[in-house]
Amino acid sequence: MISSQLIDKAVKDLFDSIKFTEQPAGLYDPLRYMIAIGGKRIRPKLCLMTYSMFKEGFPQSILGPAAGLEVFHTFTLIHDDIMDRSPLRRGQQTVWKKWSPDTAILSGDVMCIDSYKRIAQAPREVLSEVLDLFSVTAAQVCDGQQMDMDFETRERVPMAEYMEMIGLKTAVLLACSAKIGALIGGASSFEAQALYDYGYDLGLAFQIADDYLDVYADPAVFGKPVGGDIRNNKKSWMLLRAFGKAADRGALEAAMRIGDPQAKYDAVRGIYDALDVAGDARAEIARYTEKALSHVKELDREGALARFAQSLVGRVK
Ligand code: IPE
Ligand code: IPE
Ligand code: MG
Ligand code: MG
Ligand code: MG
Repeated sequence: MISSQLIDKAVKDLFDSIKFTEQPAGLYDPLRYMIAIGGKRIRPKLCLMTYSMFKEGFPQSILGPAAGLEVFHTFTLIHDDIMDRSPLRRGQQTVWKKWSPDTAILSGDVMCIDSYKRIAQAPREVLSEVLDLFSVTAAQVCDGQQMDMDFETRERVPMAEYMEMIGLKTAVLLACSAKIGALIGGASSFEAQALYDYGYDLGLAFQIADDYLDVYADPAVFGKPVGGDIRNNKKSWMLLRAFGKAADRGALEAAMRIGDPQAKYDAVRGIYDALDVAGDARAEIARYTEKALSHVKELDREGALARFAQSLVGRVK
């Protein structure tokens, strides 16, 4: 097991030196742009971390798949920003805004393919299991994204359906990242499953934190427009909790119908404030983070998985 600083450095070096196809530039420039801006890169970090629990050093057979996970994630963001009509990502213009939706669609497609090539660098002994897991996961992310969009126009969404949706759109990719690191590292199937479960519950906590931050974040740190979920009528954790808690559903429904985006945000946020939905979100994030760690009690003797979990959801504290 190595330190999180060394993992951060390995991931930084990986993306500083990564090579993508050059031409046609119209197709690959957006890819390079998004990878160069860089996000938190939590999926490759998680993958390298679980790998390092079983093996020393980072050969190409783990660096390739780790990069593939980030390229795949970044592809989903490029398409997500079209679907969510979002102008800002990682503090910069989104691909569809900077170029065009057509470019964002095709560059996203080629990134998905690129990610497969990198995942396929996994060692032969585990290649078929890794590829199967990755393919199942990739399809699940699409399922979750479709549910997320379907919810926009549905009046009532039960919390259980919301949890299923975020499990698919977000949690399975963190789970898959943790498990791929474990499988390539030579973990037993029991250990690989425990790390999958850790990634899954941590992913749920992470998406609830993202929904919280969508209302309350400092825009400079968040790198995305604050209030986007309210503007798009997203059935976020915040909204569902507010509906569950509000004595007067009508007031919240009325706030959601306000046409002016700023006035709508102010009104909905005012209701969240009055109901302390933020406090409930923090408690729920802490609960899922605890649950994530419960799967890896035996494995996490050095506390690295606990520290990683805190670094992911710590911003809402
Ligand atoms: C954004 O993912 C989409 C969600 C699952 C909430 P990240 O928050 O990991 O985004 P980047 O990669 O750091 O930009
Ligand atoms: C997660 O949902 C998106 C993906 C799984 C691609 P969001 O739509 O909340 O993500 P952000 O907030 O735009 O990053
Ligand atoms: Mg979305
Ligand atoms: Mg979005
Ligand atoms: Mg979000």
